[in-house]
Amino acid sequence: MLARTASMPDRLAMYTANALKIGLFGANCSSGRSATKLPERWSASWPDCLRLARMAEDAGIDFILPIGRWKGYGGETDFHGATLETVTWAAGLLAATERIVVFGTVHAPLFHPLIAAKEFVTVDHIGQGRFGINLVVGWNEGEFEMFGVTQRDHDSRYDFAQEWLDVVKRAWSEASDFDFDGQFLKLKSARAFPKPYEGTRPIIMNAGRSPIGQAFALRNCDAFFTATVDSRLSIDANAKKVDEIKRAARAFGRDIEVYTVGQVVCRPTQKEAEDYYRHAVIENADWSAVAQMMALKNITPQTVSPEEFGRQQHYFASKGIGGYPFVGTPDQVAQELANISKAGMRGIALSFVNYLDELPYFRDEVLPRLARLGVRQPH
Ligand SMILES: Cc1cc2nc3c(=O)[nH]c(=O)nc-3n(C[C@H](O)[C@H](O)[C@H](O)COP(=O)(O)O)c2cc1C
Repeated sequence: MLARTASMPDRLAMYTANALKIGLFGANCSSGRSATKLPERWSASWPDCLRLARMAEDAGIDFILPIGRWKGYGGETDFHGATLETVTWAAGLLAATERIVVFGTVHAPLFHPLIAAKEFVTVDHIGQGRFGINLVVGWNEGEFEMFGVTQRDHDSRYDFAQEWLDVVKRAWSEASDFDFDGQFLKLKSARAFPKPYEGTRPIIMNAGRSPIGQAFALRNCDAFFTATVDSRLSIDANAKKVDEIKRAARAFGRDIEVYTVGQVVCRPTQKEAEDYYRHAVIENADWSAVAQMMALKNITPQTVSPEEFGRQQHYFASKGIGGYPFVGTPDQVAQELANISKAGMRGIALSFVNYLDELPYFRDEVLPRLARLGVRQPH
């Protein structure tokens, strides 16, 4: 493999000239981002992930973003019951590819920061500067109990994450031993070599929704993922949201790229796309898994009215889990994605009911349209 330059601008551009970066989201988890009982739901097996990464790279897809998940949500399908650990998964995929960027998603409270820093460096060298980090603090109590780790109260999770990331960044950059004397972390004569590939560092993203989570992202991260963009809103309305986030980052003296997530069902006709979408995420929803996911967010028949519960259940199955749905013909899906780019979004991480079955159609029909619409390079 040829040596690659990995300046920070190269890393942020994900080594492509595409204005709109496109990624795949959630492929390391069984069922991906669709809590469906359909037999074709995503396996997340290693052979399927490997085929998908190679297919995505050949198609010109920019990045792959896994979900850090340790415990399934139960239900008939045990939604997310089988998940591949993301940093080791990224190592394997980066060794098997040459250009695509692969993220690892890490729960700060579950990994010692010096071990994490070294794992990230190792994977970054394997990928020659193509590794990225999604730093999460966790929200699912059951996952933390399983490790015997007590979840901190919401805001101090981000205080801890700040120290954790400060240690990781120092391990990546300090030329000699350093001490760290924080509120949570105390390290003596810490040392870590080598440094990340080419002396720069992996790109870091976060997707906090709370004000404190967002402030953490704005202070520390290169990319902020928002789940709330609606491409059917006007370009102006989305542009306003992007602008607010970028302006808030500039108040911290930083530039940040805004990304989002979504689920694609693309078919030759609008009716076919809508029929399959409904068939997958409503008619064949794993309602019990959906309810367990909602219960983790304290939405149960005991805490809300029956009407509200029904409304939320429908929302979770159709949008809350998968993200904004891009459902339609290649023209429709391409236009909605282009609108997101025109609103100033840097990229989007997409999921499919079955990534391997559906990516070829997206590659052949949607990606060329995005190039014609001027938001991606022809491939
Ligand atoms: C694109 C995206 C990816 C996320 N990935 C994970 C993940 O892999 N694991 C996880 O526990 N939480 C994940 N989250 C949850 C966020 O990190 C965050 O905890 C959540 O949005 C709630 O925000 P808050 O922590 O500010 O309250 C993700 C959220 C989004 C929008």
